Amino acid sequence: MKTRITILPGDGIGPEVTVEAVRVLQTVAAIHGYRFEFEEHAIGGDAIKRFGSPLPRATLDAALASDAVLLGAVGSPEFDRVPPNQRPEAGLLLLRSALGGYANLRPAIAYSSIAACSPVRTEVASGADILIVRELLGGLYFGEPRGIASDVATNTMRYSVEEIERVARVAFEAARKRRGKVTSVDKANVLETSQLWRQTVIRVSQDYPDVTLEHLYVDACAMHLITNPRRFDVLLTENLFGDILSDEAAVITGSLGMLASASIGGEVGLYEPVHGSAPDIVGQHAANPCGAIASAAMMLRYSFGLEQDASDIETAIQDVLEAGYRTPDIAEGTGGYVVTTSEFGELICQAVAEIADMRHAYHAV
Ligand code: IPM
Ligand code: MG
Repeated sequence: MKTRITILPGDGIGPEVTVEAVRVLQTVAAIHGYRFEFEEHAIGGDAIKRFGSPLPRATLDAALASDAVLLGAVGSPEFDRVPPNQRPEAGLLLLRSALGGYANLRPAIAYSSIAACSPVRTEVASGADILIVRELLGGLYFGEPRGIASDVATNTMRYSVEEIERVARVAFEAARKRRGKVTSVDKANVLETSQLWRQTVIRVSQDYPDVTLEHLYVDACAMHLITNPRRFDVLLTENLFGDILSDEAAVITGSLGMLASASIGGEVGLYEPVHGSAPDIVGQHAANPCGAIASAAMMLRYSFGLEQDASDIETAIQDVLEAGYRTPDIAEGTGGYVVTTSEFGELICQAVAEIADMRHAYHAV
């Protein structure tokens, strides 16, 4: 049986990093005899320019008909003065809600090999291993009413018990398989949505007596995240807070280019690096493909149940970093060799093959 994967390269460095992630998936497929079928479609600014819409019908139909979707990045300065609903980002938000993945998992792991390029002191950052569970389909991003009149603009923060409960369960389940702690982020001293969030999370936590729950206001959380990242295991948060905190968490790892994400819980899993389209480095062969490649690993884990292959890719990323290879964003102060995006992708493919060979040799003994 063929597994159908929709590839949405999007804007800026999106195409540069997705091509490397696809290469890694092809390597895994070749090693194990899987049949992945890739179909590429347009999204974001690229789709607006070619088809007049940030999410063309053909893209949406292909995504819905596939087994998983891998996206590069959307956004471009060309659209800075365009209203939100006609921007490249609108395509991504429509896609997210159509695919239905309400839980956005964003692991932030501070690898010691590149700790020196984080502005956070190594002894503070090193060893941090956080899983952000961001609610992805609610809150200010989607709340109605919304709009802009001549001198007043409105967005609505809205959450239902059901929306909070389902994402909270994902966080508690994840914590069970990790270090058993959930930090729920809210602004319950000010916002009603946060009060409902906190009450609901507390109720859900009663089904997980083995998991420790703590609550932090988002402002305090932002501070603790940068001053003591190792205190966190699973960080559960609503949509906008999660957007902000995940960029902050990326600083601990050394680069936004390192972070991957998986949007799960819906019909079709959506996998995308956390970084944006980075128009400043387009075409310079300088994009860090780690986020995209690690997103492909998450696809193998969450959409296809291929845990071993997923963790092999993650090990390959670590191995290549430990061997000293870096894209420019993670090179400063870490004393490695700077390579291009595609050289880095090739190194990951080689490492994946070596890891598979080693396992094979081990089983053969
Ligand atoms: C992210 C991005 C998106 C978001 C943008 C591109 C719409 O910042 O995935 O973190 O805000 O969710
Ligand atoms: Mg973001």
